[in-house]
Amino acid sequence: MDFSAQLIAWYQQHKRDLPWRNTTDAYIIWLSEIILQQTRVEQGMPYFYRFAERYPTVTDFAAASEDEVLRLWQGLGYYSRGRNMLKTAQLVQEEYDGKFPTTYNELIKLKGVGEYTAAAISSFSANEARAVVDGNVYRVLSRYFGVDEPINSPKGKKLFQQIADDVLDKQRPALHNQAMMEFGAMLCKPKNPACGICPVKLHCEAFKHNAINSLPVKLKT
Ligand code: ADE
Repeated sequence: MDFSAQLIAWYQQHKRDLPWRNTTDAYIIWLSEIILQQTRVEQGMPYFYRFAERYPTVTDFAAASEDEVLRLWQGLGYYSRGRNMLKTAQLVQEEYDGKFPTTYNELIKLKGVGEYTAAAISSFSANEARAVVDGNVYRVLSRYFGVDEPINSPKGKKLFQQIADDVLDKQRPALHNQAMMEFGAMLCKPKNPACGICPVKLHCEAFKHNAINSLPVKLKT
């Protein structure tokens, strides 16, 4: 089994049952990904339910007032996310007739949707072969492949995107991406990673060289 297949096998046994994982509705996935952008899963979960129940479709969201959206958003911080969401919902209603786009190239044009979010929505909703790169993915890749290029340098970003594209399971991009992120969040954690029970530790460069705590490298800005 290659790296991706091992992570997927681990994921299928150990994944958390999170509500946005049981859908391919691009709108619902977009809701979850924007809410989770600077927010932990436990903190974001009640907000996700709140928004998904109040606005079951992007058409419902587009008809909301900014006041109401910001009221629902209260406590999450980064309020521009809430404002951008309303603008995006209105644009999707107008330009896409309420059908949330699912391709990376359309998604990346939306306000508040960057490379990570476009890759997440396109892979989860339509199985487009786009590798997500977030903090979890940087950590997993830097440790497993022993890459000490800083994750926040232009060269490092390019390199990690390349590695992420290389290891992506192009037949199962949604599963692969979820597995990478879940593995980083639950097992290959920033502090005290669970190397003892890690299914890929024997091939992990950082584990082999006792470098778990020095990877990933991040430059002070
Ligand atoms: N954080 C951001 N996106 C996530 C996802 N799809 N599953 C779990 N945590 C996440």
